[in-house]
Amino acid sequence: MGTTTGKGILFTLPVEELFDAPGIVAEDVVDNAGKLILPQGTHLAWIGAHREHVISRLRNLGILHVRIRREEGLSTERLRSLLGKISPPLRTVNRQAASEAVTAIETAYHEIAVGRNREDLLLPLLRCGKALAGEIGKSPSILFSLLKVKATDEYTFVHSLNVALLAGSLAGILRPGDLPFLKHAISASLLHDLGKALINPAILNKPGKLTAEEYHEVRQHPLIGENLARDSGIAELQILQAIRWHHERWMGGGYPDNLLGGAIPLVARIIAVADVFDALTAERAYKGALPPREALSTIIESSGAHFDPAVSRCLLRSLGLFPPGTLVELSDETIAVVVSSTEGDLIRPTVLLHFDAQGVPFNDVHLVDLRRSSLHIRRGLGHLGKQAV
Ligand SMILES: [Fe+2]
Repeated sequence: MGTTTGKGILFTLPVEELFDAPGIVAEDVVDNAGKLILPQGTHLAWIGAHREHVISRLRNLGILHVRIRREEGLSTERLRSLLGKISPPLRTVNRQAASEAVTAIETAYHEIAVGRNREDLLLPLLRCGKALAGEIGKSPSILFSLLKVKATDEYTFVHSLNVALLAGSLAGILRPGDLPFLKHAISASLLHDLGKALINPAILNKPGKLTAEEYHEVRQHPLIGENLARDSGIAELQILQAIRWHHERWMGGGYPDNLLGGAIPLVARIIAVADVFDALTAERAYKGALPPREALSTIIESSGAHFDPAVSRCLLRSLGLFPPGTLVELSDETIAVVVSSTEGDLIRPTVLLHFDAQGVPFNDVHLVDLRRSSLHIRRGLGHLGKQAV
């Protein structure tokens, strides 16, 4: 059975199966007299040609099982390549559209930061918003974004894209078939933090607590963003309002206008949820990334106070209890990675089998839609690359 550590997945294996796949001895193996037979940290590969000897020695000493750690061995790159082999292809974000959006956001921020705002500056961003809306509009499911932030500076840009994808999915579910609404939600998401282009980056990336003055400055970004967007030729009221009000709270107490409930436009309420969810799951200089499951719990806990309950429920329905990227143990003790959620079915996503019950990695792509399988998820083991200890 697999359990997880920060560095891999632990298996208790019969000694005969020790060498079926690469692994590392997870705990010292000692005989009855306390003599060390296999030290913790031994790579099984080091034993090489002596494997039969080791197996028979362990058996003779009455040691029938050994705790082994196997590396997760599934980087996002490998996962992407595996997903690429799936036919029909699993829906992921169109990488070109995603990269173009990130570049468009980056360009707009840089131009604004150096005082070169102009009337047509945001047109490329709106075009990207339209393209993404076309993608999400086909079927509003949460797309498995594999874009990684390469540098701290990129964070805001990739964050804006992630918020747009998530907000777009939520908008598509909450207002099915309403393409203009979807376009507004996505464009507003791409632009929601535009005002940060004029906030001191040292404050935005400050690892410690902000002073009262610094906090005051950060809180100006929705208003600055709204003005910048208007100056750059954005005329749609829905977009301008969403930029201004994405930090308002359902029960009040948000900024800049301390609005309440339904007075906050739906697009702004959607962005509020997507913004916080993506921020919680991102790794920053001053904090670690929260696994999506925990981020989801945080949103649900604040539902009705900070967030519109209908929007947070929609996020739960779309992500499921095991969001994409979660490592799970199935009822037959295989270990799998969740690759897509199933709207409306919280506990039966589609999974990619990763290790069999003996900890041997699957070489081929085995995709299982748990809605059509007798298998079920026994428990979550953490998130890909970020397992719970
Ligand atoms: Fe913001």
